[in-house]
Amino acid sequence: MGESIQILEVSSFLPLPSSLPVLPTFVLIYLQTLRVAVDWVQGMDFSCLRKKQHVLGKILIATFFAAVCVFMLKLSPRFSSRSVFAKHESGVTHVLVTGGAGYIGSHAVLRLLKDSYRVTIVDNLSRGNIGAVKILQKLFPQPGRLHFVCADLGDARAIDQIFTQNAFDAVMHFAAVAYVGESTLEPLRYYHNITANTLVVLEAMAKHRVKTLIYSSTCATYGEPETMPITEKTPQFPINPYGKAKKMAEDMILDFSRTTNMAVMILRYFNVIGSDPEGRLGEAPRPELREHGRISGACFDAARGIIPGLKVKGTDYPTPDGTCIRDYIDVTDLVDAHVKALDKARPKNVGIYNVGTGKGRSVKEFVEACKKATGVNIKVEHLARRPGDYAEVYSDPSKIHHELNWTAKYTDLEKSLRVAWRWQKTHRNGYAS
Ligand SMILES: NC(=O)c1ccc[n+]([C@@H]2O[C@H](COP(=O)([O-])OP(=O)(O)OC[C@H]3O[C@@H](n4cnc5c(N)ncnc54)[C@H](O)[C@@H]3O)[C@@H](O)[C@H]2O)c1
Repeated sequence: MGESIQILEVSSFLPLPSSLPVLPTFVLIYLQTLRVAVDWVQGMDFSCLRKKQHVLGKILIATFFAAVCVFMLKLSPRFSSRSVFAKHESGVTHVLVTGGAGYIGSHAVLRLLKDSYRVTIVDNLSRGNIGAVKILQKLFPQPGRLHFVCADLGDARAIDQIFTQNAFDAVMHFAAVAYVGESTLEPLRYYHNITANTLVVLEAMAKHRVKTLIYSSTCATYGEPETMPITEKTPQFPINPYGKAKKMAEDMILDFSRTTNMAVMILRYFNVIGSDPEGRLGEAPRPELREHGRISGACFDAARGIIPGLKVKGTDYPTPDGTCIRDYIDVTDLVDAHVKALDKARPKNVGIYNVGTGKGRSVKEFVEACKKATGVNIKVEHLARRPGDYAEVYSDPSKIHHELNWTAKYTDLEKSLRVAWRWQKTHRNGYAS
């Protein structure tokens, strides 16, 4: 029961009619009970002592029911969490996690809750999973820990209302559409979802004086740099709408931060893989996004026979084995970087960090690791290069190491894939299974 009430409460912006009648029902029962009591009092005959006792009993019962209603109202998360989430509390940091129902966001929420943060997730569930939110709620059912609101960041009024109703101390802004290929087909969607929605978040933060922002950016903002590894000083010349939209969002954040005492951390992730080592969460993109998907998803789909095999696009790149080189960062390390960034965020300070391992791995190496991790001899087809792919991308993570004391620990590709595969195997239909 606790769980279903949690979902009802947290869905204040979800158009679920079933979520609406919880409070009115209690109020109706309460009023009905009082009316019955009043009717009894008005219609009673005071001459009869036996009846008097009878009536007294009825009043006691009515009072009892009223008390139960009030008690249940107080227990309902809608009643209790509003008061807890709406107030700043000394010693408690309340973090708004946008996109917290998604792959990286849900892992970040897990870590934040584990570290005693108070979390509100805002997600429109366009690409995330309510199943992930339910798991997090089951793990942290105590009042005042986790709160979920289904809302679209493009809806400025809803976002303003959420900021009005919640006392946030910081924002981790993960929510975004995030497929390079899709961005070239639907550029406006990307500028709207990434750039325009970040503006909505910034305006709400400014209006409600929320002073700390941790922003999810990407190595795609660098484009195709001439020299490797990529440092934070590497010029940013993004070459696809996804990277451009993220770069514009970064620019807005930086311009705005110059006019305020905001604490800003911009984290530029490289290629994210893996899942929670304890198997509680995983990566479960929508099936319709498979065609745009990332290499780890494709590898697991091939291992499960959902797709016939892996298509390696380009074997004639100027790299040791001819396939593209990327920097794969485990999601557990990535969320650790977020927590460290949040911890070190200071007013009027902007930190920009690459989050990668610093080590490039070729697609061929990745496929071999995937075969070993899954134990499946995945069929591999070698095709011509895909337009827009760059040969080699890997980070120089020394800045984040020196300034935030962060280093990637989960750097064994095969191990990360094995952990993720364990979750994939037991969740054939994602969070639905
Ligand atoms: N996965 C990677 O390899 C990678 C690499 C670099 C950067 N990033 C960035 O990390 C962030 C998270 O990526 P992910 O891989 O977890 O993606 P994801 O699709 O799993 O999660 C994104 C979440 O945002 C939500 N969302 C999207 N648009 C929204 C909107 N308008 N309002 C409210 N919620 C919305 C989705 O429903 C989803 O739950 C993104 O900003 C992405 O650009 C990811």
